[in-house]
Amino acid sequence: MTSRRLFLSGGLIAVSLQAARKTYTWAEVERLLARGDVKGKLSKDELPTPALILDLDAFEKNVAKMFRHVKASGRAIRPHGKTHKCSTIANYLIRQGAVGACAAKLSEAEAFAQDGVTGLLITSAVLGKYKIERALRLARKRPETIFCVDNAQNVKDLQEAAAWAKLKLNLAIDLYVGNRTGIAPGEPAVALAQLIESLPHVHFAGLQAYAGQASHVVGFEARKAKSREAMTPAAETRRALERKGISCPLLTGGSTGTYNIDTDIDGITELQPGSFLFMDIDYNRIGGQSGDWYDDFQNALFVRTTVISKPKDDTAIVDAGLKAFSTDKPFPPQLRGGNDIVYAFAGDEHGRLTLQGGKQVQVGDRLEFIIPHCDPSVNLYDQLFAVRGEQVEAVWKISARGKSQ
Ligand SMILES: Cc1ncc(COP(=O)(O)O)c(C=O)c1O
Repeated sequence: MTSRRLFLSGGLIAVSLQAARKTYTWAEVERLLARGDVKGKLSKDELPTPALILDLDAFEKNVAKMFRHVKASGRAIRPHGKTHKCSTIANYLIRQGAVGACAAKLSEAEAFAQDGVTGLLITSAVLGKYKIERALRLARKRPETIFCVDNAQNVKDLQEAAAWAKLKLNLAIDLYVGNRTGIAPGEPAVALAQLIESLPHVHFAGLQAYAGQASHVVGFEARKAKSREAMTPAAETRRALERKGISCPLLTGGSTGTYNIDTDIDGITELQPGSFLFMDIDYNRIGGQSGDWYDDFQNALFVRTTVISKPKDDTAIVDAGLKAFSTDKPFPPQLRGGNDIVYAFAGDEHGRLTLQGGKQVQVGDRLEFIIPHCDPSVNLYDQLFAVRGEQVEAVWKISARGKSQ
């Protein structure tokens, strides 16, 4: 009897402790966040805003869908880390079957390598004495790293440095397929591959062809035509190399907008999309095979804000402005799950909400917004809060934030 009473009172203590758990002091929250010890302890309401929120259910579905598609088409995937800039995510994607991670810049790759990310492909050129020194340091640490080149001088500089360091660097030729950088497909690219093949301290790893001009073309059929037009010369270049006896195991490219177009192009071996992980309004607007709203992947990334003032009946102010959302797009953030609140930028730290159709909000309310353009917005934050429902499950450092060198 005594023991039963003790057991019951122990149960009561546990229940009341659980209730007490909900009211932390800020110092306690700070400690939990610093330790990343948040699972089952913090709810979204306890986060200081503006906060970058990742809906884990949506994120995991996006990863599963893309990876299923890529696997079914017999291709590899090396998701682009420029979107998430987060080593935790890069490592998670590798555990799910990615062959590695792309990095836009050397410093982004260095940050990933520091956290154990393998299979790095740096999608822009590494030029100049100091960056080449850093490339050698990275290759020593992660010998499988691939560097992109598009001219003979850069190849020779990398060869000379690698010879001095007694290393062999993996080089992929970046093809100009109508977007930004690269050497012309066909004969010029074949000649550059022959140069690489002739040098002892560089290894020809394959081709990169990123047709960014196709990724956001509105309408599936128009996008398909644009991507095919851009990627066909790249696939032909791969065949031309193989005809000359130059092995070309890699032709990497593609984006969130063209993933299911590019896997139908013969010769593409690997996709390097990034935005599918998070999605943004810029991508929602391109339209999919079944409608005007591109919903192949779910919106998983949001900025959580607090209403801090209500100067008029139909106007409220949130604590997230130009420093919380990148503003490189002509359209504003959109309320998650509704269209009766219209957001307009109101300076560096504020957003002005126009409340429509009698919509009510109160000072202190939390509202979440879909981000116009995910990559540059992520780069504004130190950390990402991974949430499931109302609960915060993890805090992930944006480890390559600001690494644009
Ligand atoms: C070289 C390269 N590859 C792949 C991507 C990924 O594209 P997305 O985020 O549109 O999927 C980008 C994005 O800008 C890129 O620059």
